[in-house]
Amino acid sequence: MEDKTIKGTYIQPNSQSVIESDDPVLEILGPTSLKGEVTISGAKNSALAIMAGTLLCSDECRIRNVPSLVDVGRMKQILASLGVKITEDKDILDINAKEIGQTQAPYDLVSQLRASFFVIGPVLARLGVARVPLPGGCAIGARPVDLHVRGLQAMGAEVHIEHGIVHACVKGSRSRLKGAKIYLDYPSVGATETIMMAATLAEGETIIENAAQEPEVEDLANFCRSMGAKIRGAGTNTIIVSGVERLHSTDYPIIPDRIEAGTFLVAGAITQSPISLYPVIPEHLTPVIAKLEEIGCQVILEESKRVRIVPGALRATDIETLPYPGFPTDMQAQFMALLTLSEGNSMISETVFENRLRHVAELQRMGADIKVKGNVAVVKGVPFLSGAPVMATDLRASAALVLAGLAAQGKTVVQGLHHLDRGYENIEDKLRQLGAKLQRV
Ligand code: EPZ
Repeated sequence: MEDKTIKGTYIQPNSQSVIESDDPVLEILGPTSLKGEVTISGAKNSALAIMAGTLLCSDECRIRNVPSLVDVGRMKQILASLGVKITEDKDILDINAKEIGQTQAPYDLVSQLRASFFVIGPVLARLGVARVPLPGGCAIGARPVDLHVRGLQAMGAEVHIEHGIVHACVKGSRSRLKGAKIYLDYPSVGATETIMMAATLAEGETIIENAAQEPEVEDLANFCRSMGAKIRGAGTNTIIVSGVERLHSTDYPIIPDRIEAGTFLVAGAITQSPISLYPVIPEHLTPVIAKLEEIGCQVILEESKRVRIVPGALRATDIETLPYPGFPTDMQAQFMALLTLSEGNSMISETVFENRLRHVAELQRMGADIKVKGNVAVVKGVPFLSGAPVMATDLRASAALVLAGLAAQGKTVVQGLHHLDRGYENIEDKLRQLGAKLQRV
């Protein structure tokens, strides 16, 4: 029976399910082959932390290579609500946090962007008081902030939660945080960033043990150092910060997005298309490249910041997500899409977030053979996927469905694009430039 597509309503053949929505959807025609080179944008997870980091400085800071994303837009709104002045020119932001007076970030904004909780560290360190709504859970997990709070308490802050707001203040005449030795029960990216930022203006030395080692943490540390902060060991599991009185202005370029780059490498593999990516920092992609090679692809370093994927027959492999330098949880969904078309059985264990396998049901709609038990998914490779209407449930799940749509036979219609727009800059244009047949309708 022929599909009937009427604006806003999609009738599923042979089923009663009608999807009513005015939200735009992405229609992808597959299977498609890609060619050429794609430009990788600045890293979302660096931009968000570094934008929060500008609150540490009372001079103007210039940040370059800032991706144009919904999440970045939300962080701008949160900074503005705290009294920060922001001017922008394409991917350059001039941020002036001289006048931050408002110490409370508005709930409606914080609830839309978990990373906004990271402002608690810099505001507390600068003003000695901060009030930030609890961000609450999201699609992929409960995502508590207990490690952030315990770190600030160890530095002398009094923290209590009242009516969903985290109230933090530093008692004493100079209301300045004090350096402390902090062991993180889990190498949380956010907690490491919050504590590291707060420690830059604290009295004395702070040692963060079992710290997160993600490249975005290192990028934030380099940004803070460019403002005069004294930070050693970022990128390792022990970070040492010697507090300073104040920080100064800077002009800082953000690193390329390793997760966007990983997503495009998988686009090349899943469509069996040799494509190049620029700019990337290959070291940041080590776990991703290692798994692509295990699966049968080659990733060639063409120049210092240019890589090329040369696909091969796809073989099954096992993946376990772990903190960096382990395999990134933010690439798990995309690799699951790839492994649905590989020869053999793959086991994927999601150990970082407790609810990050929701894309399985949507991939099954496309004919994938996946069985889930707890946080483990067993993927049995199938010869092909078929296009279908699917619903994105979170940011990286949306990317996985787009990748599956590029390889699937027929038309795939992806709904829930607000997830995609949070973390991928112009992904449709970039894919179209590589030859993909897709359109947002
Ligand atoms: C950052 O989130 C990234 N977000 C996430 O990317 C990424 O998935 C995650 O790190 C892990 O790499 C940003 O940088 C903005 P965590 P974050 O604190 O900092 C638990 C994407 O797709 N935990 O390292 O929130 C937590 O529940 C996003 O771009 C506590 O228990 O991650 C989770 O299970 C999604 N208590 C685990 O640690 C805490 O206080 C890892 O979380 C903090 C975290």
